[in-house]
Amino acid sequence: MARHPTPPSRFAPVLPARAWALSEWSLLPLRLFLGATFAFAGLQKLADPSFFRATSPSSIQSQMAGAARLSPIHSLLHAMLPHAALIGWVIAYGELAIGLGTLLGLKTRLAATAGAFLSLNLFLAVSFHSKPYFTGADIVFLFAWMPLIIAGGGSRLSADALIARRAAKQAGIEADALVAVPFDNVRTWCGNFHRGHCKALSNQSCAMASCPVLHQRPAQVTPVAIKTYDRRSVVLGSTTVAVVAGAAVVTGFLTTEVGHLESSAVSGSTSSSPTLAGGGAPASATGTGGTSGTLLGPATSVPVSSAASFTIPSSGDPGIVVQLSKGTFVGYDAVCPHAGCQVGYAPSAKVLVCPCHGSEFQVATGQVISGPAPHGLAPLSIVESANGNLYLQ
Ligand code: FES
Repeated sequence: MARHPTPPSRFAPVLPARAWALSEWSLLPLRLFLGATFAFAGLQKLADPSFFRATSPSSIQSQMAGAARLSPIHSLLHAMLPHAALIGWVIAYGELAIGLGTLLGLKTRLAATAGAFLSLNLFLAVSFHSKPYFTGADIVFLFAWMPLIIAGGGSRLSADALIARRAAKQAGIEADALVAVPFDNVRTWCGNFHRGHCKALSNQSCAMASCPVLHQRPAQVTPVAIKTYDRRSVVLGSTTVAVVAGAAVVTGFLTTEVGHLESSAVSGSTSSSPTLAGGGAPASATGTGGTSGTLLGPATSVPVSSAASFTIPSSGDPGIVVQLSKGTFVGYDAVCPHAGCQVGYAPSAKVLVCPCHGSEFQVATGQVISGPAPHGLAPLSIVESANGNLYLQ
């Protein structure tokens, strides 16, 4: 006599089987967000010529030099500073590759591991001192990559899953699919379950981990089919990766060219400040007319609405001086109070800007306009002597 499933008891727990099935889709929003963000970040760097121009305050060189002052990996950053431009290219193309891989679900675990590695390094280099700690984005990105490292890209809208299905088809293996079935149903269908014991397991306790129905291999999956499947997966996977990598290189190259064209047509957002020759002079000097302090250099080195940088002798910090209007100079410790990057002057917007997380400061007062910086820049006293030299007092 055929056995029929027992109708569920009125008091039987209702398991959220649909939630289990829908979990296949749960990684998609995370993949889209991380993939789009990293691809955009990579393209943005490639499109910005000042990112690779050492004299620009928003360059990779300036960011690394600023980060090296406070970072727990400062010795590593100092050692890598001479190769900053190369590191900038690696980061830009790395972010683009990670973003595309994640968006497409192609080698997702590899892309997620690389994304977590990059986020960890950015956290240590740039946002380690963010207060409170969760205001630095890098630590959030680091943990956001974890589900994709653990679970891969999932089976929905994923190139990895598509490649696996095609390889299985070419190996003559039926496409497999997971469905959510309560284990009680499996017990009913297999016919071996009786009062908590399994006839197929010599009447031992029934358990999911040792269930012969759940763990039997389909007859069609032979060692030859598995070998064919593995070979086809490698060929299809490598071909797809090569095509996507080629497209990424072409896109990156075109983005860089467009960025160069645009920057030659439009002036940059931040200017590269000249360094005053007297900056860093350890000894104090007295100028004509009794002006005292550290001689920075001639005031003519800092035209109206432009800036120059120098080193503050007492702290070794970078300083910045701006001539607001004829004869009116303001100076600040150029270390951003958020995470220690060096701020630069943006003459078009007349603000001081931090290249790391975009904090903006009023040039006249040093107060925060926007961004994560918790307070303004430390002001310095800059005076012009009668003979036209600038002094830090
Ligand atoms: S270091 Fe983060 S905004 Fe300046």
